[in-house]
Amino acid sequence: MEKKIIFSGIQPSGKLTLGNYLGAVRNWNNLQEEYNCFYCIVDMHAMTQYQEPKDLRKQTMEALAMLLACGLDPDKNTLFIQSHVPAHAEAAWVMSCMTYFGELSRMTQFKDKSAKQSENINAGLFTYPVLMAVDILLYQTHLVPVGSDQKQHIELTRDVAERFNNRYSETFVIPEPYIAKVGAKIMSLQEPEKKMSKSDENENANIYLLDPPEVIRKKFKRAVTDSIGIVQIADDQPGIRNLISIYSVCKNMTEEEVAKAFEGKGYGDFKSAVAEAVIEVLSPVQEKFHALMSDKEYLEKVYQEGALKAENVARKTLRKIYKKVGFIPRS
Ligand code: TYM
Repeated sequence: MEKKIIFSGIQPSGKLTLGNYLGAVRNWNNLQEEYNCFYCIVDMHAMTQYQEPKDLRKQTMEALAMLLACGLDPDKNTLFIQSHVPAHAEAAWVMSCMTYFGELSRMTQFKDKSAKQSENINAGLFTYPVLMAVDILLYQTHLVPVGSDQKQHIELTRDVAERFNNRYSETFVIPEPYIAKVGAKIMSLQEPEKKMSKSDENENANIYLLDPPEVIRKKFKRAVTDSIGIVQIADDQPGIRNLISIYSVCKNMTEEEVAKAFEGKGYGDFKSAVAEAVIEVLSPVQEKFHALMSDKEYLEKVYQEGALKAENVARKTLRKIYKKVGFIPRS
């Protein structure tokens, strides 16, 4: 039986965070045997915020090295860079004619980001979800493993794909989101009602995957909690709840098991234990990352081979899309 298809993407728009890792990339590792997986570094999406060209180049290479360091095997997965496969940009035009202004206006990520970058509310920021839909649909994807912040975009992808299928006949597989039960929304360490995000200006809010152990310890020590003083799962303790989630994913325990293990312990002890659990998970990743970054030739080989594999699949779907909408094939 043919393996089902997985697609997911990550923006090279800054330093990757613990949220990216626990919410997404870590789960990708567990899927590589059972599924045919495509993972894309979405440099075109990153452009919706201004990026210094040299930084974008660097961050794209770093994101690739990070995916490999996190354990993705390029022989089992297709790892590629979005701008290397032009079918994404080409199909995005057609699908943008299939997506309504009203639908895009309802996207919460668009609303959040346009509030944050009010001086640069560009058209790409608005049509971003169309490009994301195309990323997914070009590969006839069954499952999209993401953090919960991407759920609304996947719902839109499904709506647009169904609209196309109904209008022109069956063309796309309708994808499902695949969201882990724990870790799907890691929160800021400083404002635990907000998700941890690469674009947060407060460095203490984020754990970056490349933070050295002493920085990780310091950030957890400063993490905002509450005055209740009990390690338990409670809605009025969002800071502690977040630390419980982080610890539970790092240690492969349920949140209830974590709360039980720290019953009667103070926040200071708990925070140190969370920091050590994160350091234990990130240390080997960091070591591999640094080794990979010094092997540029290998990284180039990975993205070149990835682009060829991705292109083959994406081209086929693009040809189908063009034919269905009535474009005349050139030959
Ligand atoms: P991006 O680059 O913001 O994030 C990459 C992945 O990390 C997850 N994530 C989190 N998970 C848990 N807690 C957090 N605090 C946290 N922050 C980020 C995201 O949910 C995501 O899974 N639009 C996407 C990229 C994209 C994409 C795609 C994803 C482009 N095309 C097609 C899937 C399929 C984005 O901006 O992710």
